[in-house]
Amino acid sequence: MNFIPAQIENYCNLFSSPETDLLKSINEQTNLNVHSPHMLSGPLQGNLLQFISLIKQPANILEIGTYTGYSAICLANGLSPKGKLITIEQNKELENRILESFAAHPQKEQLNLMVGNALEIIPTLTTKFDLVFIDADKRNYSTYYNLVFPMLTKGGIIIADNVLWKGKVLEAEENMDKQTLALHQFNRMVFEDERVFNFILPVRDGISIAVKK
Ligand SMILES: C[S@@+](CC[C@H](N)C(=O)[O-])C[C@H]1O[C@@H](n2cnc3c(N)ncnc32)[C@H](O)[C@@H]1O
Repeated sequence: MNFIPAQIENYCNLFSSPETDLLKSINEQTNLNVHSPHMLSGPLQGNLLQFISLIKQPANILEIGTYTGYSAICLANGLSPKGKLITIEQNKELENRILESFAAHPQKEQLNLMVGNALEIIPTLTTKFDLVFIDADKRNYSTYYNLVFPMLTKGGIIIADNVLWKGKVLEAEENMDKQTLALHQFNRMVFEDERVFNFILPVRDGISIAVKK
């Protein structure tokens, strides 16, 4: 889903920093060879992720939902020199593809893919994170937020994708399907969380951004 007219998005992309060769290749190969390529963040959202990461220069990044690694590479492009990115993906079939892309990144030693269920993996992590990107199963967004919040540094940022869910969050609550209701509840929970400053951007399928005060 995209709330921005295609011509406007094309114009924005035309006058924005272009995809690196690695990102271009991941984008092309995903569209050619992988199911559900619409899940990939794409250039505009990718630039937003990269921009936030470049400003933040995170020491540690956590991504939940790697898919083919596009957003992971965008986030990694802002990592501090000794920083570390952990990204979690449960689909084992994507592992080799992701690792090949990571191997082509200049900070490859700092990129860690963990294959498995994020709900089981996150509680095992002992790292403090400066930047978290939630982009996996929508029904667990609130759980992911609550799991990672104690691991987030002061000034740390939590970004979550697809929070407008094709505009379905505007439906009456009693008519919402489970995923829409979960996303709507997530948006309300973040909004009501006095520990953060937050906003929602109508970019692509809706991006939630919250910073820990
Ligand atoms: C929307 S895609 C991620 C797209 C990627 N972040 C990007 O922007 O290019 C969501 C991914 O989350 C993974 N996923 C779903 N539930 C998960 C879970 N519980 N643990 C880990 N990964 C999960 C899916 O297999 C899928 O690859």
